[in-house]
Amino acid sequence: MKKQHLEDLLKQMTIDEKIGQLSQLATPFFKGSTESGKITGPLEQLNISDDLVKNTGSVLGASGAKEIRNIQEQHLKDHRLSIPLLFMSDIIHGYETIFPVPLGIGSSWDIELAEKSAEIAAKESAVSGIHVTFAPMVDLVRDPRWGRVMESTGEDSYLNSEFAKAQVRGFQGEDLTKDLHRLAACVKHFAAYGAAEAGRDYNTVNMSERQLREIYLPAFQAALDAGSKLVMTSFNTVDGIPATGNKKLMRDILRDEWGFDGVTITDWGALKELIPHGVAEDESEAAYKAIQAGVDIEMMTTCYPDHLKNLIENKEVEEELLNDAVRRILQLKNELGLFENPYRGLSEENEEKVILNEEHRKVAKELAAKSCVLLQNNNNTLPINTSQKVALIGPFAENNDILGPWSWKGNKDIAVTLTKGIEKRLNNKNQFIVAKGSEIESITKEQLQNAISAAEQSDIIVLALGEHSDMSGEAGSRSNIKLPDAQLQLVDEIYQLGKPTVAVLFNGRPLDLHGVFDKTDAVLEAWFPGTEGGTAITEILYGDVNPSGKLSMSFPYSVGQVPVYYNHYNTGRPQGASDAQVRYVSQFLDIPNEPLFPFGYGLSYTTFSYQNMRLSAPGITPDDTLQVKITVKNTGKIAGDETVQLYVRDMVGEVVRPLKELKGFKKIHLKPQEEMDVTFELTEKQLRYYHSDLNYDSDNGKFEVYVGPNSKEVHTLSFTLTK
Ligand code: IFM
Repeated sequence: MKKQHLEDLLKQMTIDEKIGQLSQLATPFFKGSTESGKITGPLEQLNISDDLVKNTGSVLGASGAKEIRNIQEQHLKDHRLSIPLLFMSDIIHGYETIFPVPLGIGSSWDIELAEKSAEIAAKESAVSGIHVTFAPMVDLVRDPRWGRVMESTGEDSYLNSEFAKAQVRGFQGEDLTKDLHRLAACVKHFAAYGAAEAGRDYNTVNMSERQLREIYLPAFQAALDAGSKLVMTSFNTVDGIPATGNKKLMRDILRDEWGFDGVTITDWGALKELIPHGVAEDESEAAYKAIQAGVDIEMMTTCYPDHLKNLIENKEVEEELLNDAVRRILQLKNELGLFENPYRGLSEENEEKVILNEEHRKVAKELAAKSCVLLQNNNNTLPINTSQKVALIGPFAENNDILGPWSWKGNKDIAVTLTKGIEKRLNNKNQFIVAKGSEIESITKEQLQNAISAAEQSDIIVLALGEHSDMSGEAGSRSNIKLPDAQLQLVDEIYQLGKPTVAVLFNGRPLDLHGVFDKTDAVLEAWFPGTEGGTAITEILYGDVNPSGKLSMSFPYSVGQVPVYYNHYNTGRPQGASDAQVRYVSQFLDIPNEPLFPFGYGLSYTTFSYQNMRLSAPGITPDDTLQVKITVKNTGKIAGDETVQLYVRDMVGEVVRPLKELKGFKKIHLKPQEEMDVTFELTEKQLRYYHSDLNYDSDNGKFEVYVGPNSKEVHTLSFTLTK
């Protein structure tokens, strides 16, 4: 539809019809819906009339070509102007082919594969009738108590930005109008949701604007630069103002500064939550604040439909604000081609062919394997030799709850469990015994006895341990980030046998691994690996695939250390290497400052040496490019992938600067004994930061540059910047 026709349509709309476009309701409210749709928030008594449903602009949580066709067909008949509905859903890490949770994808550091996974997720959902995905979630995370860390790619703004761009490209492709296999992306949750106090979901966020801009906003900007069509507001406050009523965030930064002209949408119920937050007295004031702040679509409450008309008629809100919001929503519908083809890519016939096809499952397996992080491998316990008899023990041995908490369309019954994966791999079934050992949160004497007896008959024990998927995800905060006691008891009992033991972990957050890493020889973090999880993990356990994942979020020594992240500041009294017993330095009396496993860390079955780091010049000006080179060699006996990481420290800033900041990384593949020069480029632009007056600029002076296999074990050189 031409722009002028959209304007004509807008002119024909009544005020109720316009307000209807600003309303999003869950699937069960719509005629033609047969399934209940996905409910992803509290269902309270809502004041929803038939007229509102008729005028509503978008549907939340519907899926499936048949159902979406029915709802759309009915709606087009009922709507006076036949304005098509938008169908929006949470397609976070796959539709039916489920990829690892985003924290796992983050650990792959594989930007291309992440883009491919988003493309596949888009393809499967577009054919099922969905138009918009509530993804990517780009909240930077530093607190593993927060259950939603599993939805993020991690703790670093640069790495998150790279993934954010890739996911938007994967979901949206080049041209949404022509490419019916793509979805519009909705980057979320704007903003700083990942910084909820104490990791308690929906909790307060308080931080300086400098920190907000430097750490929490870059991945949003990256997603928008890549073209994300929508932005979802977050539940939290930012500097005392709930994000959903935050004019500074939505009008000043998002629209005026960044030039975003797409659609904003609240999170589920967040508009009405301005009342319990204590910044709106009633629904009318909540509607007033939200429209002024720049919220276009209200998800699952009815403050706009119930109050906006009055506010406009009483001249408290200008109708032009409403028109602007409606124009943006119609424009999105137009870009998706819905006025010409309200059914877009949906096709029951193609659902059969596209969903869960072999190619998709292959990518899911590859990404699951690349997401696995080998945290420990004492005495080269892994890989397992097929001549070794394996006892697979633990509540995740046969558990198919491996898709993760945001995988509502994923079918657990077809997920490959670890037992199935190993069974498929082994020719000789006598080489493999399975015992449950414990439930996730409880253990019986009999379970323990069976586990011990299985372990005694084997050469090597694989413990499949972890969290239920609903122990993380939305509203999944935990104050205790250890494995449940039942599993720790199981590990301890098996440890007493003194046999080679491997722990494979299925979980959605960095855990305190005391009681696991110290009682096993090898630890493989598999996250919630998705549909092909069991196959991917088996390939790693038996050495068919050499693990290459690197943590994108630090694993704390204990919960008392949280938040813990690699790019922290030095303090005025930093802890020196030998200061552990010294007082009056910044440290804990009872635990180290360092996390158990740092950002960027992950082992391989081979080893890599880093040598001969060199710079192209001792210093640069803003016109120069500094080349940072290092020679990386595979010093082991098998081929492997390595992620070479580049960090920088500004030694003296106008405000304090992090000890290290990731500025680049390269994934390389090396055959045994092969070596390769890896080159990074650095320019003045990458050295900029927000000064106290929020000016984004760099400083003259000395910088240190680090290259290494993780954020801790690095080679160091220095250079100067002269402006
Ligand atoms: O998209 C989600 C959001 O991330 C959390 N609350 C519910 C929304 C819609 O399902």
